[in-house]
Amino acid sequence: MLLLFAMGMMIAMSNFLASCTKKGDTGPAGKDQNATCNQCHTFDDAVVAKIFQYDASKHASGSTLTEATRNACAPCHSSQGFEECLKTGADTTAVGITDAAPINCRTCHQIHETYTSTDWAIRTTASYTLRMDHTITMDLQGGDGVLKGTANLCGRCHQARPASPWVTNPDGTDSLTITSNRWGPHHGPQSLILGGKGAFVIAGAPYGNSPHRDKAACMTCHGGYAQGNVVGGHSLWVTSSETGDNVKVCQSADCHTNNPTSFDIDSKQTEIKGMYQQLKVALATATIIDTVNDVINMKGKKTRKFTERQLAIIWNYFLIDADRSMGVHNYQYTHDLLNASINGFSGKGL
Ligand code: HEC
Ligand code: HEC
Ligand code: HEC
Ligand code: HEC
Ligand code: HEC
Repeated sequence: MLLLFAMGMMIAMSNFLASCTKKGDTGPAGKDQNATCNQCHTFDDAVVAKIFQYDASKHASGSTLTEATRNACAPCHSSQGFEECLKTGADTTAVGITDAAPINCRTCHQIHETYTSTDWAIRTTASYTLRMDHTITMDLQGGDGVLKGTANLCGRCHQARPASPWVTNPDGTDSLTITSNRWGPHHGPQSLILGGKGAFVIAGAPYGNSPHRDKAACMTCHGGYAQGNVVGGHSLWVTSSETGDNVKVCQSADCHTNNPTSFDIDSKQTEIKGMYQQLKVALATATIIDTVNDVINMKGKKTRKFTERQLAIIWNYFLIDADRSMGVHNYQYTHDLLNASINGFSGKGL
C-alpha cells in the first residue's frame, strides 16, 4: 500500500514536474520548485510514520463515506464537504458529494496551498459556534505548543447535531412530539463534553469542569506517544488489545504523575459507568429507551410524546452514551450532568 502510494507519487510528481518544466510558469513564482516540493516530498521517516499511522485510523477507513451523498452529512463525512463548509460557514454543503474523499491529510492540514512546509499548518484553530445552538461559541484552546487550539478543528465535526423538536425549557412539563427514534445528539459529541457545553441543565444544577477542558487538546491524548500504528500518533486510537490503554499520554509532566496503569484513574471511569448505567436502567424501566438498539422506544408508533424535562434527560443520556470516554473527556461535567439527570428523572413517558 505504502509502496504503491510512493510509486504513484513519484510518477505523478515526475509528470507534474515535467509539465511544469515544459510550460515553465506553474508553481510559486521565484522559487526553485524542486527545493520547495522536496521540503515534504522527500517524505522522510517522520512523514512516512504519520502516513502509516493515519492509514490505520478510522478516518482513513472511510467506513461512513457513503453518507456524503447527502448535503446534511457531507460536511463531517467527507473531506470536500468539510473544506466547503469552512469557506462558506454553512452547516450543509450546497449539494451532496459523489466521488467523496475520506478525511485525509488535506482535510486537517493546508497541503498544497503555498507549497512550502508552512502547509503543515492546521487548516483552522479558530473558535466556532455550535450547530445545536449558534448563539453558543466553542473555543477549545487546550493543549501545549503546536497542539494549542487544534481541538477546534476536531470539534467542528465531533459535535452534536440539532434535533427537532428542540427543548427550550429543560424543566418544562409541557409535551413535545418526536417523530424519530433517533431523536438526540447524533454520534461523536466528544468536543461538547471536553468543552463542558451542550448538555441541558436540569433543575438549575451547577455543572463543573475537569482540568482537561483547559489543558488538553484532542491530540494530547489521541495523538500522543505512538506505538507502531496501533495507538497514538495519527492513528488516533487510545487503547488496543496489544498495548492496553496508552497511559503514557496521561503521564506527561504536570498531569497524572502517579503512573496510572489504565484510564480508570482513581476509579473515576468505574464511577461514571455506574451512574450512566443507573440512568440507562431508569429510562429503560420507564420504557423510554430501547437498550437493544440504543434508540428511543417508540412503542411501535411513528410518534411519541415526552415532556420537555424528559427529552432534556434523554438528550443528556445519549450525549454520554455517544461520547464513549466514560468520564475521561471531562469527569466533573459528566458526573454533574448525570447526577442532575438521575435526580431530575421521574415517571414514565407520556
Ligand atoms: C507541506 C508539505 C508538502 C509540500 C511543500 C508539497 N507537497 Fe505534495 N503532497 C503532500 C502531501 C501530504 C500529499 C498527500 C499525501 C497523501 O495523501 O497521503 C501530497 C501529494 C502530492 C501529489 C500526489 C497527488 C495529490 O495531489 O495527492 C503530487 C503530484 C504532489 N504532492 C506534488 C507536489 C509538488 C509538485 C509540490 C511542489 C510544487 C508539492 N507537492 C509540495 C505534501 C506536500
Ligand atoms: C484529523 C486531522 C488530521 C489528519 C487527517 C492528518 N493530520 Fe497531521 N496533524 C494533525 C494535528 C492536529 C497535528 C498536530 C499539530 C501540529 O503539529 O501542527 C498534526 C501534525 C502533523 C505533522 C507534524 C507537523 C509539524 O509541524 O511538524 C505532520 C508531518 C503531519 N501531521 C502529517 C500528516 C500527513 C502526512 C497526513 C496524511 C497522511 C496527516 N498529517 C493527516 C491533524 C491531522
Ligand atoms: C471532517 C470531520 C472530522 C474532523 C475534522 C475530525 N473527525 Fe474524527 N471522525 C469523523 C468521522 C465522520 C468519524 C467516523 C469515521 C468513519 O467511521 O468512517 C471519525 C472518527 C474518529 C475516531 C474514531 C472513532 C470510532 O469510531 O471509534 C476518532 C478517535 C476521531 N475521529 C478523533 C478525531 C480527532 C482527534 C480529530 C482532530 C485531530 C478529528 N477526529 C477530526 C469526523 C471528523
Ligand atoms: C457535525 C458533524 C456531523 C454531521 C453533520 C453528521 N455526522 Fe455522522 N458522524 C459524525 C462523527 C464525528 C461520527 C463518528 C463518531 C464516533 O465515532 O464517535 C459520525 C458517525 C456516523 C455514523 C456511524 C455510527 C456508528 O455507530 O458507527 C453514521 C452511520 C453517521 N454518522 C451517519 C450520518 C448521517 C446519515 C448524517 C446526515 C443526516 C450525518 N451522519 C451527519 C459527525 C457528523
Ligand atoms: C484527556 C485525554 C483526552 C482528550 C483531551 C480527548 N480524548 Fe477522546 N478519549 C480519551 C480516552 C481515554 C478515550 C477512551 C476511553 C476508554 O476506552 O476507556 C476516548 C474516547 C474517544 C472516542 C471514542 C472512540 C475511542 O477511540 O475510544 C472518540 C471518538 C474521541 N475520544 C474523540 C475525541 C475528540 C474529538 C476529542 C477532542 C474534542 C477528544 N477525544 C479529547 C481521551 C481523551
